[in-house]
Amino acid sequence: MTAARTAGGYRTGELTVHRVPADMNAVSRALRGGGRRVVLVPTMGALHDGHRELIRHARLLPGATVTAVSIFVNPLQFGPDEDLTRYPRPLEADLEVLREEGVELAFVPSVDDMYPPGAQTRIVPGPLADELEGAVRPGHFEGVLTVVGKLFQIVAPEVALFGEKDFQQLVLLQKMVRDLNFPLSIVGVPTVREPDGLALSSRNVYLSDEQRALAPLLQRALTEGASVSARGADAVLARARGVLAAEPALTVEYLELRDPELGPTPEAGRARLLVAARLGTTRLIDNVPVQL
Ligand code: PAF
Repeated sequence: MTAARTAGGYRTGELTVHRVPADMNAVSRALRGGGRRVVLVPTMGALHDGHRELIRHARLLPGATVTAVSIFVNPLQFGPDEDLTRYPRPLEADLEVLREEGVELAFVPSVDDMYPPGAQTRIVPGPLADELEGAVRPGHFEGVLTVVGKLFQIVAPEVALFGEKDFQQLVLLQKMVRDLNFPLSIVGVPTVREPDGLALSSRNVYLSDEQRALAPLLQRALTEGASVSARGADAVLARARGVLAAEPALTVEYLELRDPELGPTPEAGRARLLVAARLGTTRLIDNVPVQL
């Protein structure tokens, strides 16, 4: 497809791609000034059907919505031993997905655009960031909140959408928006799954065929756990643990039942059952709602 230059960006089909934060900000503010509702879907690229679902939700929001998708592999949220360098970056295929989904704006900054030399300020999350994922990935959520806070400043959306698959991220971002008075609302979108139940993730490409065949076990453990919720929290955890224990190739990092804001396990009412496990070197996470 041929690309035409526009003020501060370039347009391919109906999609305009911006790389420079100031340009992105000016375009977004002009759109909002003209009565459009800017909705942001932040991503790290390697777009799959889960991202398409976020975009479709964004486009269905009421009002004169313009959908913006950011693509940025954020170095700040990767630990020193994590997969920053090998994280997939299929930019052209990603832009094609955005065109197919009718997205109007893409924000694709470079690392230097987002973190110019000397950048040192961070958004520090509360203690929840040190639990669950944070216990295994120290500093991860500080990196997530910092980049998302910057994306909110740059793209200036009225609404931002995030997948429930990264449930702790969603909860921490909701807290950030509330605690720091960001003038926008956050919408969580249910996890999209493969037909065999595996939650979609850009990291699923790391799984060997053998590991891929075992991976749906996570969701099976969660749904089997949730199916005995009438018998209480201990029964839920015991059932899920039993399913996971049957597969020695799976190393469970945590299996926890928390309240919907990820506080301690409630006695009754709404809860969330969360799991993280390793298959070889690949970490998988998943979660489901539970009614106790
Ligand atoms: O969920 C993700 O893909 C990332 O954590 C996010 C929210 C785009 C921030 O880099």
